[in-house]
Amino acid sequence: MINFLLGLPSLDLLSVDLISRASQIAYSLPNAKQRLLQYNGFTGDRDFLESLATFLTKAYNDTVKVEHLCSSPGASLMLEHMLTMLTRPQTVTRFAFFQNPTYHFVFRIFQECGFSTDQFVGIPEDCDGLDVDYLETFIKEHFEHDDGSSTRDNSHGDFYDAVLYCVPTHANPSSSILSKERREKLVTLAKQYNVLIICDDVYDLLTYQGVAPQRLVAYDFASKSDRPVVISNCSFSKILAPGLRVGWVEAQEALVKRLGLR
Ligand SMILES: Cc1ncc(COP(=O)(O)O)c(C=O)c1O
Repeated sequence: MINFLLGLPSLDLLSVDLISRASQIAYSLPNAKQRLLQYNGFTGDRDFLESLATFLTKAYNDTVKVEHLCSSPGASLMLEHMLTMLTRPQTVTRFAFFQNPTYHFVFRIFQECGFSTDQFVGIPEDCDGLDVDYLETFIKEHFEHDDGSSTRDNSHGDFYDAVLYCVPTHANPSSSILSKERREKLVTLAKQYNVLIICDDVYDLLTYQGVAPQRLVAYDFASKSDRPVVISNCSFSKILAPGLRVGWVEAQEALVKRLGLR
């Protein structure tokens, strides 16, 4: 039985046996002390990241590079970490955009990271996902003077002028999927106006029919501009077990390096 109120998976789906066998194997390897119990690489254990890259390359049917990956303690905690490291809500990062409606727990995380509710802007969606034209109109109105020149102060190179939280594939709660055309336009827009896109991609691997659309971060990799703007925030919560509190992010190497956990 599924608890729809909290979105908990049925206990039938959680395998103590599987996790316990995997842990026994991992802890019996000769280098277990160094790999599992010692301080380790900033982005995570190299062997884990390599296995993850192989797994994701197959699952997404698209090459995933180890240098683009960083392990995480799950999507929620990583969202908090990303906001702390990459935004400055009181000085640089003027707006927090959300797909409307969206996964309700994220509002509290944004507030705990220093955003106030008057910085929150809901972007409507339809069956093709987030209305990117609406977002573009809002951004132009607030980031451009009447003569088209930018209102932005470019002195804060490390931080983003706005942040968008979205679930492009199987959105929670609407289940909408962002179309290919909108994905392309969204990444171009974000690069133009220095908007960080935090993609909650926790449901991509739960595509049961057909192939899941290419994740937004792939458009960032393909773009000619070297300013990274997209982070794919993923989790084993939906495909293995939420109690493990393990996930990963995928982004350009420069962003991954800034997010590596110390
Ligand atoms: C869209 C979305 N993102 C993130 C999470 C939570 O992910 P995690 O358990 O990795 O923090 C959920 C859980 O329901 C969710 O629906």
